[in-house]
Amino acid sequence: MKKKGKRRSKSTPSIASTADRHHLYELSVQCAEAEIDFVDETFRKLKKRRAKLLREDFCGTANVCCEWVKRGDKREAIGVDLDPEVLDWGRKNNLSKLTKKQRQRITLLEKNVLNVKTAKPDIISAMNFSYWLLKERQNLKQYFKSVHSSLQDDGIFFLDCYGGYDSHKEIVEEREIDDDGDGFTYIWEQTSFNPIDHELHCTISFAFPDGSELNKAFSYEWRLWSLPEVRELLEECGFSRVTVYWQGWDKDGEPDGDFKPAKRADADAGWIAYLTAEK
Ligand SMILES: C[S@@+](CC[C@H](N)C(=O)[O-])C[C@H]1O[C@@H](n2cnc3c(N)ncnc32)[C@H](O)[C@@H]1O
Repeated sequence: MKKKGKRRSKSTPSIASTADRHHLYELSVQCAEAEIDFVDETFRKLKKRRAKLLREDFCGTANVCCEWVKRGDKREAIGVDLDPEVLDWGRKNNLSKLTKKQRQRITLLEKNVLNVKTAKPDIISAMNFSYWLLKERQNLKQYFKSVHSSLQDDGIFFLDCYGGYDSHKEIVEEREIDDDGDGFTYIWEQTSFNPIDHELHCTISFAFPDGSELNKAFSYEWRLWSLPEVRELLEECGFSRVTVYWQGWDKDGEPDGDFKPAKRADADAGWIAYLTAEK
């Protein structure tokens, strides 16, 4: 997994030693604009009105909260995360880039999503599979029930899921990322998967052109939940309609990023889907 790189002199600090793992994560993993495009448009289509208050669960650096309040003067966001370090990073690096008025429309809460109490949002979003941290059925059920009771009467819960036969493998995937001319390699590794309980361990590392590496910058211990399990549990927790959204293919045979409601899909090696759960 090591990249061949240029040699650097002993006095020059390595790129890895000065790199910021949260910044690299945002560049490699998140696309807040596309996520909010989907959430905003889907809410409008389903509810025939515009959403105002969005709650981002497992918000990390609150990138999605920031994108939400930029989309309209009346829009408000609440970000919930347990970790004060990541919330602080979000305040210093993301909220600080907003106007004062936009910033005032975001509330960051250092709380557990399992029992947080907030104003009733139109939308609760839990993206990038963070709910997979809840590995016991009863914990995931407690979370889904809490989301259900927190939402407005016509509110929608948005979440995502991945799967396919590659998700059951111990594999390494690399992607080159261009950060305004400064490239780096994003390395996703599924380090272990247990087919008996679906315990899935994954890491994210970053490699740089000077040969340095941020090894295991992020590590996740997840349960690989299946779509039928998630759909059934959402329904059990009172959601009236659960929909899965699947993307198509572009002319080069790549996923086209256009997620549409689906009941059947191809048995892909690796797929990502969105779900909506309507209260
Ligand atoms: C992978 S990050 C997700 C960041 C971002 N939401 C995204 O889409 O990429 C997962 C975050 O969930 C937070 N977290 C884990 N368990 C939590 C819990 N029970 N309640 C609130 N936050 C939690 C962690 O601190 C971490 O910042």
